[in-house]
Amino acid sequence: MTASVPPPGPALAALLASRRDGHALPRDFYHDASLYARELATVWHGGWLFAGFAFEIPNPGDFLTLDIDATPVLVIRGDDGAVRAFHNVCRHRGSQICREPAGHLRALVCPYHSWTYSRQGELVACHGMHDGVDKSALGLRPVHAEVVVDLIYICLSASPPPFGEMRARFEQAGAPQGFDRARIAKSIEYDVDANWKLVWENNRECYHCLGGHPQYVKSNFDIVDEEHASAELRQEIAAALARTNAQWAVADDGAAHPKGGLATFPDADRDLWHTCNRTPLAAGYATESLDGTRVSTLMGDYADADVGVLRMRSLPNFWLHASCDHAVVTRMLPAGPRGTRMKSFWLVDQFAREGEDYDLARLLPFWHMTNEQDWEICRWQQKGVDSVGYVPGPLSQRNEYNVDAFIRWYLKQVRAAA
Ligand code: FES
Ligand SMILES: [Fe+2]
Repeated sequence: MTASVPPPGPALAALLASRRDGHALPRDFYHDASLYARELATVWHGGWLFAGFAFEIPNPGDFLTLDIDATPVLVIRGDDGAVRAFHNVCRHRGSQICREPAGHLRALVCPYHSWTYSRQGELVACHGMHDGVDKSALGLRPVHAEVVVDLIYICLSASPPPFGEMRARFEQAGAPQGFDRARIAKSIEYDVDANWKLVWENNRECYHCLGGHPQYVKSNFDIVDEEHASAELRQEIAAALARTNAQWAVADDGAAHPKGGLATFPDADRDLWHTCNRTPLAAGYATESLDGTRVSTLMGDYADADVGVLRMRSLPNFWLHASCDHAVVTRMLPAGPRGTRMKSFWLVDQFAREGEDYDLARLLPFWHMTNEQDWEICRWQQKGVDSVGYVPGPLSQRNEYNVDAFIRWYLKQVRAAA
């Protein structure tokens, strides 16, 4: 993921070596500006990032934009129907070109001096320039883009990591959900005053869920561990899993984490940055809603509600939970050493109509509430780990194995060199 980044200097190398095995990260990991710069260069500029949905930009000229910290990127559908990404930076004197989060354009016209680019990124006009300007050498700088089950991924690196395994996994697991037949019922952006790693670490454990998410834990078995589950509960999970797996097994990743608790992810040793799995819902829950009853019409290939929850994730910036009737996709973008910009998208079937098939008042709360609870947790943790009084504590091997896995994966990325 980090092919062209030189090795860290002595100070950063010392910081990267300072993590004690099995423990949380030391203080400077959560606010050091030079480390953050290295994270941008390695993790964020080196990896595949979820940007948005192909169905958001169905027609030539439709675009969306996003900022990876200070790097603005434009994703646009070209006249040939292909989804492409470009640096959203003019080749003249560098002005940002598109300033809107999304829209439609006949051509890309830089607002500063009107240099004009086609929807394929070619410079087509630069009135007022002298003769001899080679327009063919001044097209917008491309960014790698891939689309899998209508999820658009981009990579800023000149040599992106292989995408094929990810494509195969997401296509196999994601196809039944019908992302290509979905639409966004609502999206919400959240500015979280916390380092992006705190957000991931919190996402990778449910140790906090009983106290932190009283509504969330009723719907699933994330807080159950094999050692402490009763025989009846184990039987309930096994039965629910068997029903779900019979129809919707996710090959390779396993249909679910069979012991309860969170599926193991990531895997630093295998450099595994993407997985999918499907987990059963608790008795009485047809979907992830506050009362467990359905909140919209069925999505994709689902003929009934008994599909559990499809979970897909990719580092460094994407996770989703998809039930029979809706999916909640969450995108993370870094916004400084102490800031993370989150955006959640609530997807429903493309033909579902607000007020008839779904109400936002019933669709949103489960994950909006869970999100806000998590962001609050992260804000307070940032305050604590910023303190000179913070000393990294031990991670629970039973409940925080994925936090440890995330940290090991992360360290591998930022240490990596040419
Ligand atoms: S900076 Fe874009 S036209 Fe001058
Ligand atoms: Fe949480």
